[in-house]
Amino acid sequence: MRRSMMSIQSAKKQVAALKEQLNKWAHEYYVLDQPTVEDFEYDRIYQQLVALEEQFPELVTSDSPTQRVGGKILSNFEKVTHEIPMMSLSDVFSKEEIIAFDARVKKLLNVSQVDYCCELKIDGLAISLRYENGHFVRGATRGNGTIGENITDNLKTVKSIPYILQQPASFEVRGECYMPKASFVALNQTREEEGLAVFANPRNAAAGSLRQLDTKITSKRNLSTFLYTVADFGPLKAESQSAALKELQTYGLRVNPEFRLVHNVEEIWEYVEEFHEKRTTLPYEIDGIVIKVNSFAQQEQLGYTVKVPRFSTAYKFPPEEVETEILDIEWTVGRTGVLTPTAVMTPVKVAGTTVSRASLHNGDFIQQKDIRLGDHVLIFKAGDIIPEVAKVFTEKRTTQEPYLLPTNCPVCQSQLVHLDEEVALRCINPMCPAQLAEGLNHFVSRNAMNIDGLGPKIIQQLFEKKLVKDVADLYRLKVEDFYQLDKVKEKSANNFYTAIQQSKNNSLEHLLFGLGIRHVGAKAAKILAAHFGSLEKIAEADVLEIQQLETIGTTIADSLTAYFAKPEVAILISELKELGVNLNYLGAAASSDSIFSGKTIVLTGKLEQFTREDLKQLLESRGAKVTGSVSAKTDFVIAGSDAGSKLVKAQQLDIPVLTEDDFKQQLQEDDHA
Ligand code: IVH
Repeated sequence: MRRSMMSIQSAKKQVAALKEQLNKWAHEYYVLDQPTVEDFEYDRIYQQLVALEEQFPELVTSDSPTQRVGGKILSNFEKVTHEIPMMSLSDVFSKEEIIAFDARVKKLLNVSQVDYCCELKIDGLAISLRYENGHFVRGATRGNGTIGENITDNLKTVKSIPYILQQPASFEVRGECYMPKASFVALNQTREEEGLAVFANPRNAAAGSLRQLDTKITSKRNLSTFLYTVADFGPLKAESQSAALKELQTYGLRVNPEFRLVHNVEEIWEYVEEFHEKRTTLPYEIDGIVIKVNSFAQQEQLGYTVKVPRFSTAYKFPPEEVETEILDIEWTVGRTGVLTPTAVMTPVKVAGTTVSRASLHNGDFIQQKDIRLGDHVLIFKAGDIIPEVAKVFTEKRTTQEPYLLPTNCPVCQSQLVHLDEEVALRCINPMCPAQLAEGLNHFVSRNAMNIDGLGPKIIQQLFEKKLVKDVADLYRLKVEDFYQLDKVKEKSANNFYTAIQQSKNNSLEHLLFGLGIRHVGAKAAKILAAHFGSLEKIAEADVLEIQQLETIGTTIADSLTAYFAKPEVAILISELKELGVNLNYLGAAASSDSIFSGKTIVLTGKLEQFTREDLKQLLESRGAKVTGSVSAKTDFVIAGSDAGSKLVKAQQLDIPVLTEDDFKQQLQEDDHA
């Protein structure tokens, strides 16, 4: 775009339009934590404004998004002034721009070669941590770069931030606070199940988590940090960025290990390509690479523009987004009655895998994006894992009809409700078969009653054949009942029956978690079981007593008391008791310390009572490590028939060998210990 090609009048109009758009997006992003566009789209429009303002400097105003580094300050948190501002970085999007950056740096320094430190650009939130004599005294967000928010109490819940440094120092370290991909996926899954709005990406989830006035919520969000600089180099001895990163580590601060000292643009580009490739396999999201002149002396020489350092720039990855078409929208009913829509799409490859389904989360999401059957959409992977619809190409739309949300449950046909504080549609029929079946699946799952072999297909059949309708019915099943199921013969019928019977002896926390009480996760169940000792005592407990327990709080306490107040729950408990299900806490040893925990085990020979995979999973779920070869480190070997060289080796090394029956015996002891 050359100046001569555009009149000042039309440039003025365009600048105004771009600013309005960017200000709206920035408000949604920075203030509300609810972005409506992908970052790449924001960056693209922002670059257009930067380009126009460069051509027409007379159009730059103080309210332009290019004139400030961050967003508005929310009034909820105390303000913090950054004595040394937290700046932003200039962006580049191509190798050519990196070459130009390098050329500019060399010219300004008047040298022919410069060393750079390449780092991953972690997609989180910039934070500043103040340490006084080695003690963490204050943590802040960037805010607008000069004034941020005091989030010390929130950051104190982030486990990677040390309260006390490994050596005393007074300085302000800066870095990124982020949510690991796995935590993001788990958080959204729970939120979806609970009918709450999901976060668009790990960065928004981290931002939402740090800005919690209730720090308990922050602590549950599993945030982490990578630190990469200090505001004022005071106590640091390092004379370069790569040395500083190493030095920060010696204070006990978390530093991303992937940084690399490079010597020219080719090596920068190798780093870029390498991490563009590895990006999806990292446990955290990165949105690019940060390139920093390595020598601090040279950094100082280069200095800063008003907004950004001249010694550093950020290369932004192109987005992994692919176009496809919505063929259908399927709705499933979860354990709590929440309906979740899934888009069925023409299969396409995104970030390394073929994708044909994407969660649409809830009805509000579909309506906000106005997604319709047959629409062409752009999809990407949130947290590099979960396929998501980023955008609808309305210009390619052929249908006139908006998608109509269901009014009735697709399984039991009862009328759906949309609760005030929720974004989800809910089926509130307590007898809805989908909910009951999901409840049973949860009950038998590993962290709950851990009933081996009873997968969703078996549960579905038990349900359809009216052999079970609630969890108590599982304990009423006889071996013969299983014969009614598809392809089930004597041996598996016996296994199912035995597994169910064995689960009667589980310690209380398994049952408590398995009941699927809202907000009562496996960890809360353990704390409650250990404190109260029996299900009856929990059922009778006072709400105040429950909420005073460590990490429990009012949400769980209220949910528990509401659950146990239901007459049908009282009936269920007495039925379970009558059927011989243990309702007591069996002690710490029984629940956490399996005899297999920490043991290294080798499987060999033909196994008859377990599949190898099941056995491996079973052992791993109890904290054991299953390895492929026998060595001095092996604790014991489980041998089936026709075992060969591994058995011989075990005997030579005097390592205990268990038959499958021996092992089952041990397993029972483990369960009852
Ligand atoms: S250095 C003067 N290094 O990217 C600013 N920033 O667009 C110094 N970021 O605000 C920033 N990883 O939130 C730097 N290894 C890294 C980074 C990084 C992520 C973020 C940071 C910064 C933004 C700049």
